[in-house]
Amino acid sequence: MEQQLNDLLAQAKKAIASSTSLEQLNNLQVEYLGKKSVLNEFLKGMKDLPHEERLIVGQLANKIKGELTALWQATRKELELAELTAKLNEEKIDVTLPGFNINSAGRHPLMLVIEEITNVFNGLGYDVIFGPEVESDEFNFQKLNLPKDHPARDMQDTFYITESTLLRTHCTNMTARMLSQMQDNEEVIAVISAGNTYRRDDDDATHSHQFMQIDGFLVAPNISFANLKWTIQYFCERMFGENAKTRLRPSFFPFTEPSVEVDVTCICCGGQGCSICKKTGWIEIMGAGMINPLVYEACGQSKDLTGFAFGIGIERIAMLKYGVDDIRRFYTNNIKFLEQFRNFN
Ligand code: DAH
Repeated sequence: MEQQLNDLLAQAKKAIASSTSLEQLNNLQVEYLGKKSVLNEFLKGMKDLPHEERLIVGQLANKIKGELTALWQATRKELELAELTAKLNEEKIDVTLPGFNINSAGRHPLMLVIEEITNVFNGLGYDVIFGPEVESDEFNFQKLNLPKDHPARDMQDTFYITESTLLRTHCTNMTARMLSQMQDNEEVIAVISAGNTYRRDDDDATHSHQFMQIDGFLVAPNISFANLKWTIQYFCERMFGENAKTRLRPSFFPFTEPSVEVDVTCICCGGQGCSICKKTGWIEIMGAGMINPLVYEACGQSKDLTGFAFGIGIERIAMLKYGVDDIRRFYTNNIKFLEQFRNFN
């Protein structure tokens, strides 16, 4: 029996020492040391031996088990280390190889302009809000003093979804929405709202049936036209530089009274006259005015509130700022065009 055990030890030692992978080694553990191993079977069979012999064989069997376990563990460590070393060698990085060019996107020029305008108004305490592009006739027109038969609708009402919903024609819808929500204890609201707008228009170098606007308004006690004028001048200086001059021309919007069209000195020629400003030295950039009391009334507020509103076309400003010659370039996703704005911020 002793001989048998010693043979088993020799055989197992040889097998463990010559195993070349962890998988192989794990199988050997099952074979020689596991529950169903030869050694275990051996230990189970010992109960039939006479007492003296059982002592000797038992001791030997346990010694063999200890020796094999130690050998198995040491071999496992070696193999693990060998496998790790092989893996590290295989995955070695050659830092001298040329790198890959990772293509990251830049921000869209219209977004750059929106961010810049937003920063200016944030600094003046305006909140930024976003509204629905599918809007009801009520908020897009009626509450803004554009009743169903109003001729001023003709220039805008276009993309109807149902008889009473349409793609909003301006971001002024948010003025109607915010005023309608205004609470009795609220004294001041100052918000700007940016987004897409849609209306019937020519599709040419300076017109598009889809474009972006930033619309804003301020309602607070004792607001006068002087406050609007100051805000417009401040905005233009921040956007176009401190030499920017502004000019207000009387205009008409049903939701403001009086209404103005705002021109800024041409940023290409500084007011001298060039092809961009059609030799006038001025460029129109927004509509504005004092909020019409009829709008307050339609939104369920007192007619005595005071405030002003303005609407800025984003594409127009982006075209001026970046010298873009055709509005369609913003929408045709030409990578070469867009890449030029990658490092702008
Ligand atoms: N909503 C006007 C448009 O789309 C622009 C505008 C003019 C907005 C005057 C205003 C405003 O808020 O006060 O042409």
